[in-house]
Amino acid sequence: MRINAGAASIEIVEGDITRERVDAIVNAANESLLGGGGVDGAIHRAGGPAILEECRTLGGCKTGDAKITTGGRLLAHHVIHTVGPIYRDGTRGEAALLASCYRRSLAVAGDHALSSIAFPAISCGVYGYPIPDAAAIALRTVAEIAAGGGAVQRVRFLLFGPETFDAFAAAAENLRTT
Ligand code: AR6
Repeated sequence: MRINAGAASIEIVEGDITRERVDAIVNAANESLLGGGGVDGAIHRAGGPAILEECRTLGGCKTGDAKITTGGRLLAHHVIHTVGPIYRDGTRGEAALLASCYRRSLAVAGDHALSSIAFPAISCGVYGYPIPDAAAIALRTVAEIAAGGGAVQRVRFLLFGPETFDAFAAAAENLRTT
């Protein structure tokens, strides 16, 4: 599924982000940037040790912020590591922090003149964000930035499994019709 936002396109795809051939894939990391499970573990496994080596020099990353490294052996030349919020009850600033992950990741991509990027469903695994809410925030934030004429021309959401894919597809459909 694909929607247009200004000159940019946003694609919703079910699959494995580590196989993406884009300028940068985004990692749903933790504040240490020293690896973990989920998509973080998969990216480090597929990209090899060069990613962790560079992460060690970065001094961690605050929740809502993003930092870039090499993509190591990945098809994507860069990984942008962002740290989503741990979902508690929705009253601890989770929505603003999640939007900030998407905003900062696109800003970092722009700073490096990257034109294509793939996102996973940040915070939708171990961090427990309700997936439909996270999907609405993700789509709205990325569409607003893309429509505002950012450097990134192509944004792909790589969703792991049908539940996450369906939620993001519904959020995209909602955006298209509002
Ligand atoms: N490709 C795309 N999406 C994936 C892949 C993959 N290969 N593998 C998992 N997902 P999570 P979080 C999906 O838990 O909730 C780590 O340990 C997964 O199904 O990876 O932000 C970090 O180090 C889910 O939809 O990230 C942190 O400690 C989405 O990616 C913590 O988990 C995010 O799930 C971050 O938790």
